[in-house]
This record gives sequence, C-alpha cells and structure tokens, in this order.
Amino acid sequence: MRILTGIQPSGALHLGNYFGAMLPAIQLQNQGEAFYFIANYHSMTSLTDADLRRRFTLDVALDWLACGLDPAKAVIWRQSDVPEHTELAWLLTTITPMGLLERCHSFKDKVAKLGDGEIGSVNHGLFAYPVLMAADILLYDSNVVPVGKDQKQHLEVTRDIALKFNHIYGETFVIPEPRIQESVAVVPGLDGQKMSKSYNNTIELFGDEKATKKKIMGIVMDSRTPEEPKPDAEKNVVVQLFKLLNAEEGARQEELLRAGGYGYGSLKKAFFEYFWNYFAPYRARRAELAADPAAVQKILADGAQRATVIARQTLARAKKASGLD
Ligand code: ADP
Ligand code: TRP
Repeated sequence: MRILTGIQPSGALHLGNYFGAMLPAIQLQNQGEAFYFIANYHSMTSLTDADLRRRFTLDVALDWLACGLDPAKAVIWRQSDVPEHTELAWLLTTITPMGLLERCHSFKDKVAKLGDGEIGSVNHGLFAYPVLMAADILLYDSNVVPVGKDQKQHLEVTRDIALKFNHIYGETFVIPEPRIQESVAVVPGLDGQKMSKSYNNTIELFGDEKATKKKIMGIVMDSRTPEEPKPDAEKNVVVQLFKLLNAEEGARQEELLRAGGYGYGSLKKAFFEYFWNYFAPYRARRAELAADPAAVQKILADGAQRATVIARQTLARAKKASGLD
C-alpha cells in the first residue's frame, strides 16, 4: 500500500492540520510506503512572498518531523524539487473538463468572497490547482490519501481525471482512495467554523506560550455564570477540541459543565494546560531539529531523490501511453 499526502507551506500549522492530516499520516507510516510532501507549488496560488514561503517550508518540515514523521520510514520532500509534478499536471490538464473544476467548492468559495468585478484578481493557478493535486497523487501510484474533509472533492476530481486518462490512453494510473477519519473530519476553530489558516481562528501547534494562552482564554462563549448547569455542553468548541486531545478527559470536562458550578474560565484554563503539555515533547524535539537546519535540508534532499525515482517511472509510463515518448 502506498500512502501519500501534502501540506501547503502557507502559514503555521494548527490543530486542524494535525488531527485531519498529520496524525493519520504519521500513524499510517508503519502500514505501507509513506510519501509526504510540502506542497510549495500549491502555496504560490495564495502566497507571493518568497522569503515567507522559504520560512514556512522549513517550518512545515520541522512540524512534521517533530510530530513523529520518521524519515527512515516515510519519504518527505519539497514538491518543487521534483518538477515531474508540473509536467504530469500538463498531461492531465489537457483531458480535464472545465466543468469539473468550475464545480470545485474551494474555488467557488474563493470567488464568492470577492466583490463585483474582482474576478480579475483570481489567478489561473487557483482554478487549475486540483489538476496539480491530481498529478501529485497519481505520480506516485498512491492508494490511500489521508486528508481532512475539505479535500474530499479534490480527491474525487483526481479519481475522475485518472479514470478519464486511463480510458483515453489505456491503463496508466492507479485509482486512489481518500482516507478521512470521521471523528476529525472537520476540526472546529476558535469561532466554531472549520479551523483554517485563512480564517484566523487557529490554535497553532507550536505558537508562543503567552499568545496561545491569550487566544484560548479569549474564546468567546455565552454569558451563563459558572454556577448554571450547561445541558448543551457537548456543543462547546473547547469541549470538542479537548476530546480530540483526550476523549476521556474531554468527556469529564463536558460533565463538569453540564453539572453546573464549573465556569468557562476554568474549562479554558484546563484546556490550555492540557494542550501545552500534550505538545511539550514535540516542542522539545522541534527545538532540537530547528537548531540544525542543514540536517533538515539534507532529509528533504534525500527525500526528493527517493521521490524522483518513482516520479520518473510513472511520468515515463504516462508519456509512452500518450505518444510523447
Ligand atoms: P488550511 O485550511 O488551514 O489552509 P490546508 O488546506 O493547508 O489547511 O490543509 C492541510 C491538510 O489539513 C488537509 O489535508 C486538510 O484537509 C487538513 N485540514 C485543514 N484544516 C482542517 C480542519 N479544520 N479539520 C480537519 N482537517 C483539516
Ligand atoms: N490541497 C491540499 C490542501 O490544501 C494540499 C495538497 C496538495 C495535497 N497536493 C496534495 C493533499 C496531494 C493530499 C494529496 O490541503
């Protein structure tokens, strides 16, 4: 079984990324051949600051490695070190119906947020992005793709494109399956919406202690006093996040709220402390790794070499099938 996933270097990684994509991927690295990459080509559709991209790329590598990605088991690389991704994307884009991309929610949502006449500010990369994502996945004959629910439609697009290419040019690509864990399909953010870098509602995995505490203590809740019982405690965002960190402790906090005599301030404080201790070993490991960036660059370079071997084989197969050889 080959497992593949990618994360964009477009900002600091958060609990949504961790539970939706990173933790499932780290757990899967023992069950097959794992291929995890930093999607820096993708980040170009939304981020145009070169220095920031470089910094976020190293940060994503550090975050992955700190949280348990083992380079002895999993291949980790920078997407742009394997330019076969973009070449395959061209082969795929020529058989991708416009309508398939026009139906993508992520693109439609971006456009819907624009005012009248602002469509000119949408770049073609944002529209074509699911084709590059299909290339990322198909290039490695991936069977399983661990992602959060927001990526489900992109996986369906990938499958459609692969089936169409196979139909036109003959059996070439493996058809991948998404792997979406229902319990963490959509991790809520501080405001109750999906936690996302673009909504400014995240709890960063490796943020500064004071700032993180301030963010968590600042989560807005209703005006019920600590004494009042809260029969709807299961809907509380902090209770939901707590349960992701530890199901039992989360359920205990929920019961405390439900019973009354337990206020939101105490809940938030308990959550912050639990969160901070939960990531403490990873934080220590991350600091060690960050002290030696050359070693991290070496891991990425080795990963790119290993990824290239597979990528070249698949691309050659696709070029042969389509008469480009
Ligand atoms: P963001 O929305 O913060 O920009 P990305 O789109 O870079 O996050 O997502 C990287 C991975 O993390 C994807 O697999 C995505 O599905 C997953 N993910 C992101 N946010 C969440 C969330 N709130 N809940 C579950 N999974 C998430
Ligand atoms: N589109 C994904 C996201 O924004 C990132 C990504 C790019 C990806 N290529 C991929 C995820 C291939 C899984 C497989 O989160």
